[in-house]
Amino acid sequence: MSTHDNALRIFLLGKPIISSNELQLQLKRKKCRGLIYYLAEQNRPIGRERLIELFWPNRDIYSAQHNLNVHLYEIKKYIPNIIISNEAYVSIAPEVKRDTQIFESFIVNNSNSIKDTLSTLNLYRGDFLDGFSLSESPAFNDWIILLQEHYKMLMLRGLVTLSELYLDACDYQQCLFVIQKALSIDPLCEELYRNAILAHYHMGNYLKVTQAYEKLRHILSEEVGLPPMKEVQELYAAIINEKPIKEFVHAQQRINKNAQKTGYNHGAASRFYVPFNGRDGEMKMLERLCLPGKLVLVHGSPGIGKTRLIQEFMQNWEGFIFYGECLELNNNILFHPISSAIRRFIQTVNWDELKEDVKTELSPDWWGELRCFVPEIAPQDKSPFQKPCHDYDIIESIYQFIVILSKKRKLLFAIDDIQWIDNNSLILLGNIIEYSENLDVFFLCTEGLLSGINPMLVKFKQLLNKLNMLNVISLKPLDNASIRVFAQYFQMGDSEVLVDWLKKLSDGNPSIMIELLRYARDKIEAALEGNVDINSIINKFVLPQTIRDGLFSQFVDLSEQARNVLDAAAVCGKVFDYATIVKATNLSKTEVLKGIEDLLEKGFIVIDNEQRYAFDNPMVREGAYQLLTPSRRQWLHSNIALSVQE
Ligand SMILES: Nc1ncnc2c1ncn2[C@@H]1O[C@H](COP(=O)(O)OP(=O)(O)OP(=O)(O)O)[C@@H](O)[C@H]1O
Ligand SMILES: [Mg+2]
Repeated sequence: MSTHDNALRIFLLGKPIISSNELQLQLKRKKCRGLIYYLAEQNRPIGRERLIELFWPNRDIYSAQHNLNVHLYEIKKYIPNIIISNEAYVSIAPEVKRDTQIFESFIVNNSNSIKDTLSTLNLYRGDFLDGFSLSESPAFNDWIILLQEHYKMLMLRGLVTLSELYLDACDYQQCLFVIQKALSIDPLCEELYRNAILAHYHMGNYLKVTQAYEKLRHILSEEVGLPPMKEVQELYAAIINEKPIKEFVHAQQRINKNAQKTGYNHGAASRFYVPFNGRDGEMKMLERLCLPGKLVLVHGSPGIGKTRLIQEFMQNWEGFIFYGECLELNNNILFHPISSAIRRFIQTVNWDELKEDVKTELSPDWWGELRCFVPEIAPQDKSPFQKPCHDYDIIESIYQFIVILSKKRKLLFAIDDIQWIDNNSLILLGNIIEYSENLDVFFLCTEGLLSGINPMLVKFKQLLNKLNMLNVISLKPLDNASIRVFAQYFQMGDSEVLVDWLKKLSDGNPSIMIELLRYARDKIEAALEGNVDINSIINKFVLPQTIRDGLFSQFVDLSEQARNVLDAAAVCGKVFDYATIVKATNLSKTEVLKGIEDLLEKGFIVIDNEQRYAFDNPMVREGAYQLLTPSRRQWLHSNIALSVQE
């Protein structure tokens, strides 16, 4: 429920709050507050007798009526416009908004959106009127208990739905996390066990499948003396007998159906899936700059969200997609990103139908060439290849293929991590861009900060730039609002401590945020039944193992000079200057300069001001520091201390 207008709002889920214009309103008398909560929840005119019965059951009628009048007067005095009354009835003013109404209508109407479901479930801060009761009014207290149960059940229903949405999105970790939360509301909810079994099954964890099933069987027989419902029994039997699972086919079909339209499969299965957010500006820019015959380059430091941005863009693309990834270790396999893009395309698009058209329109020579390049385009075709593939012919046949496809639907040619592209693919890309000026073909690439390594790529970009065919979008760290989304998504509530922790350690880098959240979640899961204080986990600096491993593999590639500068800089702190590094290491001035340049190029450090440099984010410094041997750390510390004394 947004709180950005002047309307009066009442939050009843959790500790009750009455607010106006984001300010919390206080009413001294507890019964005045109780009256407001009751009227708000009823949301219709209530007879004065009913209120007297509930709030002043032990008073004689005259004193009870007097009391009601005094309380209503006080409410109107302190919060004008919140209630309406006449001689017979009292009601909450129609413009007053309450969280329970939004919560209930959303859950009852079900949604397919993870994002919307999450934001609705966030309204549930705790039990209905948590901690509130009136000592003289037992019937009112009973009413609270009834509603607590009602909203708890709605929350449970919302969580079951959310776990199913995650199953559909193939985000099994998150699905299990939601289930854990939901089981604390109802440990006997069989739908949750069913979803947990499915999630473990899709993750290939058969031991956990059995554990979940046995736990359900045990708990049901202890509590209600019944076996699990038939559906769960059948599911479990199918898994252990390696029979097909109905739900799996269902979810997979849905994904394939989407993919068939574009020839691109998003593959939502990620380790920790946070709804896309905080990139509205960049997305708009991308939509504006993505023009036929031009290349858009999304550029930024490691883990900043380049791939995710283009994936989200591709999700909404209404045309064909060729999507190829360049991998660091594959940059000597010729045409790797291009052939993998075509393979992915024919596997996901409805190729059988399309193939006949393409085959008739493409000249037999080019069809043969294409078949030679990616045999999967005609697996049934057993005729021998005419001649070995030649680079030029491959380029021409792919170009002709693209021409034919782009006449049917617009085509997006996307390449991820172009810094690792092989030179042949680059030549092909350049050729296609050059000749596709009048075609409905669009080009989109991401680039990490390592492009200086490939001189051909540097020239390629220079040339496109000169011809006014290159548009660059640089991704900056996510802002505070977005960091808050990551924290809320994790905790389903507001936690400033968590937001501060993420901000301090990640500087808005989404990939680091995800690793930190995974770290925190693992700690919670490792603690018994999740009864662990989140503050004890997050109020310190941590370097999750996954980030440490990732950094280590990046450090291995650094030049010797860069590695030495990095070590000394890590001991200096977040910021450091050239002169201190010269004194702290055994390197010559030119070697230090070279080391600094390498680190800048790889994105580990940035220029802080004219004299100083700074680590791009705190994890890099911490990683470098932790990887130092104790003796080297000591040696560097003493060198730096000496240089400061001088
Ligand atoms: N705007 C965003 N909203 C939510 N999650 C995001 C966002 N941007 C990135 N992420 C998540 O952060 C992680 C890292 O993002 P991504 O892989 O896109 O980064 P990258 O810049 O491509 O990294 P690399 O340099 O390793 O290629 C992914 O799990 C991704 O889903
Ligand atoms: Mg990437």
